[in-house]
Amino acid sequence: MLKAIDEHQEQALQQDKVPQHVAITMDGNGRWAQKRGLPRYMGHSEGVKALISAVKFCVKKGISILTVFAFSTENWYRPKGEVNYLMGLMKRTFEKHIEELSSQGVRVVWIGDRNGLSKDITNIWLNAEELTKNNNRLILNIAFNYGGRNEITNATRRIVDEVLTGKINPEEITEELLSRYMYTGKYVDPDLIIRTGGEYRLSNFLLWQAAYAEWHITDTLWPDFSDEDFEIALLSFSRRQRRFGRVVE
Ligand code: IPE
Ligand code: IPE
Ligand code: MG
Repeated sequence: MLKAIDEHQEQALQQDKVPQHVAITMDGNGRWAQKRGLPRYMGHSEGVKALISAVKFCVKKGISILTVFAFSTENWYRPKGEVNYLMGLMKRTFEKHIEELSSQGVRVVWIGDRNGLSKDITNIWLNAEELTKNNNRLILNIAFNYGGRNEITNATRRIVDEVLTGKINPEEITEELLSRYMYTGKYVDPDLIIRTGGEYRLSNFLLWQAAYAEWHITDTLWPDFSDEDFEIALLSFSRRQRRFGRVVE
């Protein structure tokens, strides 16, 4: 039997030209710094500025959900100094910007593996979520300690637990149910995924959710990503014809 087309796909087929959900792999910070003879970490702090302006841009454009890849489950294997710098930067970024983002109606949601992190780091995220939980202008999903395979593995574990305790019947395991067990469970799949830094790879980002996303890959390095670059990505998206496997007249 044919699966009924889901509501979000239905809207997209009706030529919704502005994406509801945009995701970004913010790549190229290290190269941005190296090109200028600076240490890699300076690229990360410049990258925060690009993130804040991308968030404001989405608010302005009426995009409902922005999901950004900030730190992967594999990024822990970077040199210790870089990892420590990134953790400190994350803390400072929230301290500096959370009030302003909140006042613009941004709700911060942490997507990623919440296990095995220090209390310090966990609390930073929980506080940001708590402070912004009543906002609804823009959902800002920040992928931190995030890996697509990790997400699918964790979803599988939770589903198996619920089957074993009788909360779910195996026949109830559908694509829709799996979607709900992903870290992005409450939200529609991304319509558009942007990757800066020019690499043509997923790097373990949104493996499940990206099934029918449109891709926009740009050589622009993340700290240089401007409103104009964002406009170009949206324009490219608006010219695509999405088909979801069907034939569209
Ligand atoms: C992305 O920039 C930021 C993180 C992964 C935290 P990179 O640090 O990967 O920058 P490049 O790809 O080395 O230039
Ligand atoms: C992806 O970039 C992760 C983030 C942007 C946070 P990476 O720089 O880690 O990806 P690879 O190593 O080029 O695949
Ligand atoms: Mg990189």
